[in-house]
Amino acid sequence: MTIRPILTAPDKRLKLRSNPVDKVDEEIRTLLEDMLETMYQGDGLGLAAIQVGVPKRAIVVDVHAPDDPPTPMKLVNPEILWFSSERMLYEEGCLSFPDFFADVERATEVRVRYLDENGAAQEIEAAETLAVCLQHEVDHLDGKLFVDHLSLVKRGIILRKMAKARRAQAQDA
Ligand code: NI
Repeated sequence: MTIRPILTAPDKRLKLRSNPVDKVDEEIRTLLEDMLETMYQGDGLGLAAIQVGVPKRAIVVDVHAPDDPPTPMKLVNPEILWFSSERMLYEEGCLSFPDFFADVERATEVRVRYLDENGAAQEIEAAETLAVCLQHEVDHLDGKLFVDHLSLVKRGIILRKMAKARRAQAQDA
């Protein structure tokens, strides 16, 4: 397993629409393992392949409580079949926006279809944190970021801060 570098906003690749995976093969399984390792290293709840620069429809999530054992999930070609009409606010972050958090409104429950790491079709229902996380990651596959759910003003503030942090980092280097 390899920890891969994570793209951070405003990297243009984060706005790409990712391509469906034709075949769940060894290359995809290695990618999924690397993504999990990279996500755990960054203390994230989820990661999409495009965040490590691979424009394929693959995501990993793990929303286990800090004291519980890990519950890694690997989803290839995930598709949200149903969103509950009930919605909730959840404070989201993203490994591509280090240190930024904002309340985003999403469906409280979703039903998701995907291929597992063996290429078998699966369907799950998820609620609350897992549901939010799945919606956030599937958004990444369509080039949509959590800040795109915010008002223009809030998004502007975060993106300006990101650009400023990036310039400061460049000066330090
Ligand atoms: Ni994210």
